[in-house]
Amino acid sequence: MVEINHATKVVVLTGAGISAESGIKTFRAADGLWENHAIEDVATPHAWKKNPELVWNFYQGRRNQLTEVEPNPAHKSLVTLEEFLGDNFLLVTQNVDDLHSRAGSNNLIHMHGELRILRCEQCHETFDMMQQEHLTADYVACPNCANQRLRPHIVWFHEMPFQLPEIYAAVEECDIFMTVGTSGHVYPAAGLIDVAKQAGALCVGVNLDEPMNYGMHDEFHQGKAGELLPNLVDEWVS
Ligand code: OAD
Repeated sequence: MVEINHATKVVVLTGAGISAESGIKTFRAADGLWENHAIEDVATPHAWKKNPELVWNFYQGRRNQLTEVEPNPAHKSLVTLEEFLGDNFLLVTQNVDDLHSRAGSNNLIHMHGELRILRCEQCHETFDMMQQEHLTADYVACPNCANQRLRPHIVWFHEMPFQLPEIYAAVEECDIFMTVGTSGHVYPAAGLIDVAKQAGALCVGVNLDEPMNYGMHDEFHQGKAGELLPNLVDEWVS
């Protein structure tokens, strides 16, 4: 049974399932996101080197999709939870869409990067680039140096997720660790629940299907996040 007050420390880990009801395909659904592409062809540093055009066009498609989707009630309910908990709340998302921040979440870590952002591999600057001229098939040049080809600011396979020290520190300290819409296939994200559990946190899950790490959850709510999460959060903060 979850009981929270303003001093309860909560970390929420979200995955593709929370954005499914906004119209963004999940990764491991039968009709999955990869649109006829093997992961190795579009989501590795090697692919970017070998076939930058394919990788660029794939991510430009996904960046364009951001202009057509909106946050759903599940994203919004996490804003309500953050408003209640303030700095005791941390949202860690594996999603590269911008629906959490557009819903209003602030204490937010994008551990797998962000579609909105392009990065220069020469000067290492990042740029939030979502104007129409940045969303075409043409490469975008770095505004800061001579590099003619910025890359997506996405953590590809074989690359290290962002801000892991901050994430681990918060998970080790939290009272409640919650997973929402994630299948538990991809590490290190899928192992955060082990860290939370070992540190004594209550582990709560909301997911359409049982995730790989189902057995680590103390409380599990099976169904759509957009339907279940707003009610759960309302119960917690009332
Ligand atoms: P997955 O596609 O692996 O899992 C999505 C989960 O969401 C599944 O368990 C679904 O059952 C569940 N789901 C679907 N619709 C839902 C809904 N409406 N409400 C609640 N749950 C729902 O996505 P992730 O676990 O996020 O990494 O995948 C993790 C990482 O794998 C991604 O960040 C990506 C990918 O490779 C990188 O790109 C580095």
